[in-house]
Amino acid sequence: MHRNFGKYLKPAILAGAFIFMAGVSFSAQKAPEPPKETTPPYERGEALGTIINPHEQINDAGEILWGTCTVCHKQIPDIKKEHSIKDVQLHFEDNPNEICTRCHLVKKHPGTEGASVTMSGYAAPDHLVVPSSAIATNMRISLKDVPTILPLDPKSGKIICATCHNPHERGLLTGRADWGADFTMRLRSAGLDICQYCHRK
Ligand code: HEC
Ligand code: HEC
Ligand code: HEC
Ligand code: HEC
Repeated sequence: MHRNFGKYLKPAILAGAFIFMAGVSFSAQKAPEPPKETTPPYERGEALGTIINPHEQINDAGEILWGTCTVCHKQIPDIKKEHSIKDVQLHFEDNPNEICTRCHLVKKHPGTEGASVTMSGYAAPDHLVVPSSAIATNMRISLKDVPTILPLDPKSGKIICATCHNPHERGLLTGRADWGADFTMRLRSAGLDICQYCHRK
């Protein structure tokens, strides 16, 4: 009810603001340049605006919000006993990325940006694959240097969204699984160059 009402209310306000702004630009003689349109690299799913953030797993009082776990987990994990993607039961049919794409409509990434890859006709590489042996070796070396995890789909061996993104709130899990939690874009980089984890030079 509320939401629908808002839908009709907003255009009315916007229309009002527009008329007001048109008046202003008249008196200033020259209309201001409209802001340059920037295309965000990713669309945000409609669901994002309407639901609670499932990555918020600890409240201000420091209590764990166990209810949020079941957005992605079939049952609430025992954080004392479960220490791997193999230990937990996640909510999906065949593809673990479904957990994320329910809310996040992302284009193929990363690797869509940067000088070498913006040439016309360049297709972003599919990262959700079984890593080649060269990449797998790099991942093993990186895991010696960096105290993180790079979980793969235990069934298919493929890279998944959670290989690079930490879905948990900082402080929920301990040790390696906490690395990168709540970092920018939830990347398991925690400030390091995440590309280098797998593409070492
Ligand atoms: C937004 C989705 C999402 C939510 C919400 C979520 N998890 Fe997870 N969780 C995952 C995914 C995906 C994995 C597998 C990848 C990994 O290990 O991080 C995982 C793995 C885990 C693991 C194994 C970690 C390890 O060491 O590899 C534990 C423990 C866990 N979750 C506990 C929890 C608890 C407790 C909650 C609720 C307070 C929770 N999770 C909420 C997605 C989620
Ligand atoms: C129930 C919906 C939901 C699910 C499921 C979910 N997320 Fe999110 N996610 C959100 C919301 C809400 C935010 C906060 C968005 C914002 O602040 O713009 C968010 C934020 C993020 C961000 C940070 C985006 C930014 O712009 O900084 C990343 C990355 C992310 N989620 C990855 C994941 C991954 C990976 C999974 C699956 C393991 C997942 N999410 C599952 C709703 C969800
Ligand atoms: C190989 C690592 C990797 C994998 C796999 C990956 N991402 Fe990302 N993701 C990144 C990086 C790096 C960024 C930062 C922007 C960029 O470089 O494209 C990012 C950005 C994002 C953002 C933030 C976009 C924004 O501006 O709001 C979201 C959300 C996201 N990824 C979700 C996902 C989901 C969902 C999947 C699985 C379908 C996924 N990612 C798989 C590395 C990865
Ligand atoms: C978790 C490991 C992982 C991470 C992190 C990662 N990649 Fe990749 N990347 C791969 C895999 C796997 C392939 C597929 C080719 C292969 O298996 O050798 C690939 C392929 C590519 C390709 C196609 C060309 C090539 O080398 O085959 C580009 C470009 C690329 N990645 C860019 C990036 C960028 C940019 C980042 C950081 C934002 C990044 N990748 C992070 C694993 C990763």
